[in-house]
Order: sequence, then C-alpha cells, then structure tokens
Amino acid sequence: MEPIYATSHLLSVVFVLTSFLSCFGARQENPIVKQLHHTHLYDPGAYQSHLSTSYRSDIVHNPRFPSFLDYKTRAPITRTSKASAPANSHKLVTVDDFGAKADGTDDSEAFKKAWNATCSSRERAVLVVPKNKTYHLKPVNFSGPCKSHLKVLIYGTIKASVKISDYENDRRHWLVVEKVKNLEVRGGGIINGNGRIWWVNSCKTNKTLPCKRAPTALTFLECKNLVVANLRFLNAQKMHLTFQGCVNVRALDLFVKAPRNSPNTDGIHVTGTKKIKISKCIIRTGDDCISIVSGSTRIEATDIICGPGHGISIGSLGANNSEAKVSHVEVNRATLSGTTNGLRIKTWQGGSGYAKKIRFQNVVMHNVTNPIIIDQYYCDQVDPCPEQPSAVKISQVMYRNIKGTSESEVAVKFNCSKRNPCRQILLQDIDLRREEINGSAKASCENVKLANMGHVSPMCA
Ligand SMILES: *[C@@H]1O[C@H](CO)[C@@H](O)[C@H](O)[C@H]1NC(C)=O
Ligand SMILES: *[C@@H]1O[C@H](CO)[C@@H](O)[C@H](O)[C@H]1NC(C)=O
Ligand SMILES: *[C@@H]1O[C@H](CO)[C@@H](O)[C@H](O)[C@H]1NC(C)=O
Ligand SMILES: *[C@@H]1O[C@H](CO)[C@@H](O)[C@H](O)[C@H]1NC(C)=O
Ligand SMILES: *[C@@H]1O[C@H](CO)[C@@H](O)[C@H](O)[C@H]1NC(C)=O
Ligand SMILES: *[C@@H]1O[C@H](CO)[C@@H](O)[C@H](O)[C@H]1NC(C)=O
Ligand SMILES: *[C@@H]1O[C@H](CO)[C@@H](O)[C@H](O)[C@H]1NC(C)=O
Ligand SMILES: *[C@@H]1O[C@H](CO)[C@@H](O)[C@H](O)[C@H]1NC(C)=O
Repeated sequence: MEPIYATSHLLSVVFVLTSFLSCFGARQENPIVKQLHHTHLYDPGAYQSHLSTSYRSDIVHNPRFPSFLDYKTRAPITRTSKASAPANSHKLVTVDDFGAKADGTDDSEAFKKAWNATCSSRERAVLVVPKNKTYHLKPVNFSGPCKSHLKVLIYGTIKASVKISDYENDRRHWLVVEKVKNLEVRGGGIINGNGRIWWVNSCKTNKTLPCKRAPTALTFLECKNLVVANLRFLNAQKMHLTFQGCVNVRALDLFVKAPRNSPNTDGIHVTGTKKIKISKCIIRTGDDCISIVSGSTRIEATDIICGPGHGISIGSLGANNSEAKVSHVEVNRATLSGTTNGLRIKTWQGGSGYAKKIRFQNVVMHNVTNPIIIDQYYCDQVDPCPEQPSAVKISQVMYRNIKGTSESEVAVKFNCSKRNPCRQILLQDIDLRREEINGSAKASCENVKLANMGHVSPMCA
C-alpha cells in the first residue's frame, strides 16, 4: 500500500463514496455531497432506479409486456387442448404432441418441431415440457425472432446426451436460446447436463489430458426481456446458465448444483449483458456461483446462497491484453459457505478498460478462504504472466456490512496493480474473523487507495 496519499484525495473518496451510499438510503441532503452526485464520476439517478424498482416498473409499465408477467402458473398442462381452449387463450404446445417419447431415446427433433410451432405462433404461445418425464436432448438451438411473446414451462426433466461426438459441431453449447424477445421460462423442472463424462475428460481434473472445450448447459444469447425462474440446474458439462449479450433479464428462484470438484461448473455466468437482476438463487458447484465478465452493466444479484464453489466473481477481465468494461454491479444479501473466494474481482496483467461502480453489501461468510479479494495479477495459465504497464482499472468499489469467518488468515486481500492502483475503495462495517481459532484475521493491501467507515476489521495497515 502507498504509505501516504493526499488528505484531500482521501476526503473526496469518502465524499463520493458517501454519496454512493446515501443515494440508496435517500436520507442525506448535504449540499457538497449532493453536488458530488452531479459532478463526479457517477450518475446516482440512473443507478438508483436500476437498483430499486426498475425491473417491476420497466417491465410492468412496458405496454408490450405486462400481462406476460401476470400470467399465473396454473396446474401443469400436459396436453394440447385446442378444441376446448377459450377464444382468447394462449396457444398450448407440448413436446409430446410432436413426438417426444421421454423413453431414453433422443427427443431433440420433437423439441425442435415444438419450438418451431411455438415460435411461429401469431398468438401468445406456451410450450410445455410435461411433468414426471425425462427427455434426452443432443445440442439444440432454439432460435428467434418469434412471432409473439412466449412462455416455456419446463415441469419435467431435460437431460443431456453423454455422447461427446454429438457435440462435435460446436463443443461450447448444449442448449442455446438465441435472439428471442419477451420470453419467460419457468416451471420447477430440471435441466441436467449429465456432465460427468466432461469432468473426467477435463485437463483440470486430469493434468495429462489436453485442454478441450466443454459445453455450457443453457445459454441465452442476445435475448431481450427475459424471465428465467423456478428451475433446477444439475451437473452441467461446464457452466450451468449463461446470459450472453442479453438485455433486461430477471433470473430468480434458481437452484444450481454440481459436485464441488467438478471443473468450470459456474452457476450463472453473465457476459456482455445489460440490466440483469439475479435473485433468490441457491448455487452449489465446483466453480464461481456467479461470474460477471466484460461488457456487463447494471447487474444486480440479491439473496444469493453460494457454496461450495469459488464465490461471486467479477472477472476474469483483460486476458490477452483485451479491453474489458464492467460497471454498476450490486451484490446485496448473500451468504457464502466454504467457498474458495467470497467477493472477488480478478484481472489479468496487460488488459485495459475498467471495473467500476461496484457495491457488495450485507454479505455473510462462513469459512471462506479469501472473503474479500481483488487480484490484479490473476494468471490462470501455464506460462507466467509478467507485469505489464496497462491494466483493467478498478475504482469505486464498496464493501458494506460484510461479516463472518475466513478459512485463511488473510481475510481481506487487495493485490492491485503497481502502475494502476485500485482507487476509491470503501470498506464500511466489516467484521471478519478466523474460522478455526475464532481469532483476528489480517488484511493485505497493495497499491490501493481506500477509506474505512464504521467498524472495520481487519483493516489495511
Ligand atoms: C424449424 O424452423 C427452421 C426455420 O424455419 C427450419 O430451418 C427447421 O428445419 C425447422 N425444424 C424443424 C424440426 O421443423
Ligand atoms: C407425477 O408423479 C407424482 C408422484 O408419482 C404424482 O403424484 C403426480 O400426479 C404426477 N403428475 C403428473 C402430472 O403426472
Ligand atoms: C447454435 O448456436 C451457437 C451459438 O450461436 C452456434 O455456435 C452454433 O453453431 C449453433 N448451432 C447450430 C446447429 O446452429
Ligand atoms: C488421466 O488420463 C490418462 C490418459 O487418458 C489416463 O491413462 C489416466 O488413467 C487418467 N487418470 C485418471 C486419474 O483418470
Ligand atoms: C489467449 O490467447 C491464446 C492464443 O490465442 C489462447 O490460447 C488462450 O486461451 C487465450 N487466453 C485466454 C485466457 O483467453
Ligand atoms: C473450513 O474449510 C476448511 C477447508 O475447506 C475445512 O478443512 C474445514 O473443515 C472447514 N471448517 C469448518 C468449521 O467447516
Ligand atoms: C500479488 O500478486 C503477485 C503475483 O501473483 C504475487 O507475487 C504477490 O506476492 C502478491 N502480493 C500479495 C501481497 O499477495
Ligand atoms: C468468536 O468471538 C466473538 C468475539 O470475541 C464472540 O462474540 C463469538 O461468540 C465467538 N464465536 C465462537 C463460535 O466462539
């Protein structure tokens, strides 16, 4: 850590970060801070609306979306009932109508046909995957644009093919939903990646094997106005659920589970996505519970239960000298248990761009190895990553009300870049202790400009 930095700079950090806090509490009227709202770095209005009720208001008040959300999940619909359907009802399609057998044979063609029928429907359409059945699928792309708003109700189980040759055209994806607008997917069913075959063939599991790609179980690609709710994801081949290039997403009531030693099985991965609210999710896997990477902004994760796994991560960013931009991230109310990291920001040497306006608050840690960590020397490759002049710049990161236990002695670790120190880092009401001995933990702080508020323990020297 730089031993001394200008007091005025420290004050401005405190002021800006105070305004940062208070725009949520809507309580302060200090004119200096108020002015800072408008003159510094930060557009609290935009952030605030996104953080409070924007998902309700933006979606519900969008005239083209409202009844979509109001649609009540009724008892499972298991067959098409065109004849008896009232005139203004939704068109109902089930995969069984298109020949899905759920008998262990491949149901991919039936799912594709059912999707086509749903997606081309001019009236609102509902696609049903019936309850108490297990359907087997090879890689399938469900593509839009579709003619109306869609709802997919997954009540049953969808299981992935375990034949690696089925994935030879594209080893990165199992199920892809692409270019669809106004889609809601829910139902309480299970999406099972059957990933064991991929894990044992991973170079992370067996170092003698070459590193090859493995598929993400479910990818939403370039979708807009999307709700993914009440689903269970099990044993993905690699990541479980990815949002890539999407706009306006709500992901809620999701349960994700894979063994703690399954490689790269991130729970929810967010990339290039604008405005996503992830809430009420339980994620227990072998990699990050939530990972947020470049091009993502206005990310909210609330009421998250995480662990085992690698914690909640922003990054990695800036690999291979790439430019990365991540901003306006809010993690609120999370519990992390037995994870290798808690709240992590990781960047490679040599990148550019930024990670800024990030807030972590109301987080409880149980036996987390690195509860709070910023690592600007991240290097996940065989070759070393030498220090480089450029870096993804990290600024305006707040940690507030973070409590619990650290598995390691160093509970707070800021390893920031020498030439691009982390700036405007605020720690407020931090209480992290050692798990094993219930003793005090340490903070390790390199190249970071920070401020403390309230009770902060451990504190940077
Ligand atoms: C679904 O629709 C697409 C585009 O119209 C077409 O290429 C494809 O053959 C259809 N698939 C099935 C299984 O009907
Ligand atoms: C599913 O199975 C459960 C338990 O066997 C049964 O109670 C329920 O009625 C079944 N539901 C459907 C839609 O078949
Ligand atoms: C499915 O979508 C992915 C992602 O865009 C693409 O890489 C893949 O080639 C597509 N597969 C097919 C069969 O269209
Ligand atoms: C690792 O892979 C090699 C080469 O396929 C194989 O011979 C070996 O049994 C594997 N080791 C384990 C522990 O699976
Ligand atoms: C960086 O680029 C090299 C060469 O193109 C590639 O092999 C490697 O996987 C890349 N690393 C990352 C982290 O993307
Ligand atoms: C804490 O985590 C370590 C390593 O993961 C483990 O060995 C230890 O048993 C855990 N302690 C508790 C109390 O769970
Ligand atoms: C920061 O990271 C570098 C590179 O991994 C490492 O050599 C150094 O020891 C780290 N510093 C601290 C304080 O952990
Ligand atoms: C750990 O220490 C704190 C502060 O001394 C105390 O309040 C707490 O009860 C202790 N917890 C355990 C499990 O001993």
